[in-house]
Amino acid sequence: MKLLFLLTLLIGFALALETAVLEERQGRGSGKRQRKKTYRPKKSTGVATARAPNKPRNAPSDYKTGTGRASSKRNKSALKKLPADYIDAGMRRRWESWQTLRRLRRQAANTNDFYECYNTNSALKVADCQTVIDQVLESNDELIVTANSCLVFSFRTCQGFFCSLCQTLGTSTDFIGNQLDTIDALCLEGGQVGSIVGQDPPQWDAGFTYINDGLPTYDVC
Ligand SMILES: *[C@@H]1O[C@H](CO)[C@@H](O)[C@H](O)[C@H]1NC(C)=O
Repeated sequence: MKLLFLLTLLIGFALALETAVLEERQGRGSGKRQRKKTYRPKKSTGVATARAPNKPRNAPSDYKTGTGRASSKRNKSALKKLPADYIDAGMRRRWESWQTLRRLRRQAANTNDFYECYNTNSALKVADCQTVIDQVLESNDELIVTANSCLVFSFRTCQGFFCSLCQTLGTSTDFIGNQLDTIDALCLEGGQVGSIVGQDPPQWDAGFTYINDGLPTYDVC
């Protein structure tokens, strides 16, 4: 009887510990804002018409959204594996079973997300990009993106983007905001812009450029 009690207690501790570790991972990013719990982009078969993403009701008037094309080819050999702490493996309930937690962790480790940082126009203001991130994370919008099409989110000197690289997909501003927050932490804080490239189908890229620069595309189809 005592042994059973002890075992139950130990399992309880282990679960609490796993949850704490995952909570901490979810909190990563620039450290300034809360990442959203969200789904990864999914292949979409619906009839797609690209539209500009919604803006939050109180968005600053210089905050603009629109659509574009991925036209600026970049060399994928420059891409590095995204650190596991920044990978959005998928949705998670607060109290998952031990097995589900292990599966999610394995999923994050097996996700083919890459990134690169590169130099840009020195007039780019990081604060402008951070305004973009905050607006995207507040947009609460679901979007369909066709192959080679992009969603753009801009504020003054900074342009955030999300492009579908190979096929039509569905995603959300929560997922896009998380990726932009990651680029803030990995590139902007070091004075560069950059992209994250999801190489698992449906392939996508997301990140920042200087305003009106070409939207990057990578040969990953
Ligand atoms: C990409 O970079 C690699 C290594 O720097 C180089 O060998 C290759 O030719 C480049 N490819 C393109 C398409 O520029």
